[in-house]
Parts: sequence; C-alpha cells; structure tokens
Amino acid sequence: VSHPVPQLELDALGAASQQAARLFERIYLQLEQRPVAPPASAAQVRTLFRDSLEDQGVGMARALEDFETKVLPHSMGIAHPLYMGLVNSSPLPAAALADSLVSALNNNAGAFHASPAMTACEEEVCRSFVRLAGLPASAAGMVVPGGTFANLQALAIARTASRLTGAELPLARLYVSEAAHFSIARAARVVGLSSEQIIRIPTLGRDAMDVGALRARLERDRSEGLRPMAVAATLGTTGTGGIDPLAAIAELCSRHSVWFHVDACYGGAALLLPELRGRFVGVERADSVAIDPHKWFFIPMTAGLLLVREPRYAREAFDEAASYIPTEEADAWRSGIPTSRRASGFVIWMGLRAHGWSTVREAVRRNIALARRLEQGLRAAGLEILPDGELSVACARWSAEGLSAEAAEALQGEISRRVCESGRAWFATVRHRGRSWLRFNLVNLHVQTHHVDRMLELVTSALTPAQGGR
Ligand SMILES: Cc1ncc(COP(=O)(O)O)c(C=O)c1O
Repeated sequence: VSHPVPQLELDALGAASQQAARLFERIYLQLEQRPVAPPASAAQVRTLFRDSLEDQGVGMARALEDFETKVLPHSMGIAHPLYMGLVNSSPLPAAALADSLVSALNNNAGAFHASPAMTACEEEVCRSFVRLAGLPASAAGMVVPGGTFANLQALAIARTASRLTGAELPLARLYVSEAAHFSIARAARVVGLSSEQIIRIPTLGRDAMDVGALRARLERDRSEGLRPMAVAATLGTTGTGGIDPLAAIAELCSRHSVWFHVDACYGGAALLLPELRGRFVGVERADSVAIDPHKWFFIPMTAGLLLVREPRYAREAFDEAASYIPTEEADAWRSGIPTSRRASGFVIWMGLRAHGWSTVREAVRRNIALARRLEQGLRAAGLEILPDGELSVACARWSAEGLSAEAAEALQGEISRRVCESGRAWFATVRHRGRSWLRFNLVNLHVQTHHVDRMLELVTSALTPAQGGR
C-alpha cells in the first residue's frame, strides 16, 4: 500500500514567510491605524470562520490572506497605547518574532535533552529573575503558562512543604487579602482546599493587606488547632495596583513557619526601578514568587514564571518515574506541573537579549508617570481619584450632584461602555471598597503623553451626556 506524502508546499515557504513578515511588520507599524476594539458583533465574527476547515487545505498564501482580511480586522488592539484595560501588554518585537521560531523548531522544554539551547536560555532568564527578586542564587525558576499556573504550582509546592495530607488537610488554612487575584482561590481549590480554608484578610488604604488582622487571625487559628499553610501576598494588586506590606508579612510567616508566597504577576516589573525598590522589601524573604513576563515585561502570552527558594520542595511535589524519557537533574517536568512545555523561556530570553532590560525599565517608569498624569487630568476634570497610586493603575470615579448611590454605580459602567464602544480606547471598571471605579492600567511600550491626553478627552466627553441627560 502506498500512502501519499503530505503536500506541505515547502517550495512556497519563502513566499509565505515573506507574506507573513509583511503582516508582522504591519501589525507593529500600523498599530495606531487600527481601532482599539473591533467594531463587528460577536455573531458577525463567528460567521466569518464557520465551516472554514475542509478536507483539502487552501494553501498557506490564502490562509495568510484570511489572517489579513478576517483575523486582523477583528482582533483586539491589546498593544494599542489607548488600550488601558486588563493586564495585557504590548509585546517586544524580538519576543514576538521568537514565537514563530519556537513553533518551527518545536523543541520540548519539558526536558533538557529535548530543548538544550532553549532550556539553557530559560535557565539564564530564571537566574536573572531570581536576582531581581533578591532570592538566593540556590533558588530555582520555571516558566509556566501564565500567572494562574504559577500561583497554582506555588500552592501545590507549599502544600507539599507543609506535610499536610489526608485527614490533616482540612485543617490547612491559606491567607490572602480581600484584594488578591482570584487565581489564588482557584488554585487553592485545585490543591484540595475548600472555600472555608481560604481566609480573606481585610485591606487598608489602597488594597494593602492589614497585617494586624493577619497576625490576629494566624494566632487565633493556631490556638484553635488549625494549621496555617501559606500566606499569599500581592505585589501589585490587579484592581488598584496596591502593595501588601511584604516585610511585615515575611516576619509573621517566619514566626509561624508558614509558606510565604508573593504574587508579583503584575507588579513584579516594578522591581526593576531602584526608586521603588524600598517599597518591596520583604519579597527577598519569600518561599515562592510568581512573576508574569507576559504582563509588564512585554513578552507575548503566555509566559509566567515561578521562583522557588528551596527547589527540593518542587521536586518532591512533582517528581515521578518515567522510564522512556532520558532524564536530567534539571528537567522541568520533574519540578512542575507541565510535561510537554512550550519553550517560552527562550521567548523571554530573546526579548531581553534583543531589547535589553533598560527598554522594559524605561517603559515601566514611563507607564507609572503617565498613570499619575492621567490621575491629575481626571482630577482637574472633576473626577474623584483613588489616592496613593504607586504603580501603573489609575482609578477615578464620576459622580454628578444629586445622583443616588445606585445611579452613580451604574454611571461608571456607562462611561466605560461609551468610550470602549467608540473603538478608540478601552478601559475597565473595578470595585474597590464597595464602589465602582473607572480603572486605567498602562502596561504599554508605546504609550506617550499625547495618548493620555487623548484618553482624558474621550473620558470627559463621555461624562457630558450622563450629566446633562442629552
Ligand atoms: C496579581 C495577578 N495575579 C495573577 C494573575 C493571573 O495571571 P494570568 O492571567 O497570567 O493567569 C493576574 C492577572 O491579571 C494578576 O494581575
């Protein structure tokens, strides 16, 4: 029986690569000519792709044309400087280029033998981030698919280190602030904790965990025979950019022999700024730190990073026998959740190798300064500003005279919707202390003063109809 060899159009690869390269270039160079939010409805977009996968392919050139005519115009302008929404960033070009090289080589970063050079690059990335967090050189790092995975892997390791298994597991308690990212609670459920075992500590000021409340709760739980397992502090809350008092939490964790995890998924890039470093003292005492290069380090999704002070606990949590894999000490699959793994560590390496830490540092610094400028402008326009912003999140609230609390709540969503539907800009709203706020997060390589001023115009013109009842 003869089986046909797949026709992969390898002779057309040069032309297709050039076609893709032109599109790649256009994505960057024409970024601001495309809308921030695409205009078509979800139904219209879905119709474009229904029944598009057939027995015979259309060829690379036509598939790339589909990208140009159907995908690109209906994609979110995440990298656009007027996208000030969720913590999704604009990718460094070299890192985005690295992604197609990673796919073409398809090395499996689960094991060193299956991706020697790319794993060595990841090891260098991890050494650099270990230094950035101030952990000892003996700490280990691993690239995982995002912050949720990093938090999950951290809690699985913390559970192993706590030795709480079987009948004792229900006594375990995990402490997080009320402003912690929801991925921590989801991760806790996956490692076997029920919602009663997740203790939410109130916050003070701009979403910083109340250490007095944490201390009291730890002592109370201890005296009741419960087993505090971990505290997950946040360096940069998603909602408002709040920073937990890390040094005081580290002290409590050490006194109570509790695992100290720091979720620095969003705020971790601020560690690059010497002028802010003093605010993060205590992170160097963490047992584990989650940092997302795919957020404020401008690496394309997905690239999260988990740093672990004592790698032996990670090995203990995940190692298994696998006779069919040529095994190395350093193999990622032995110390983390993934088995096959995309070589995203190489993508991070390529972004930083090509553009340097200074590009990231300067962008982070600019993002923070522009967030403060946006606050000033919004304050001048009569909005209430959430005070004490330190990172790149600006929160503001509009309330017109005589408006009921309920109507004021609805108004924030209405203002955001008006601006987002224009397609010219995008931002979200967030609830903080029972009230809704307009929330702008600047995690962007390209954003400049005039973009912030444009955002101000868009927001202030969205205020008028609600106030005047046009
Ligand atoms: C503080 C924090 N932790 C964790 C996450 C989850 O990260 P990911 O979306 O990469 O899973 C986020 C996402 O925004 C975050 O802001």
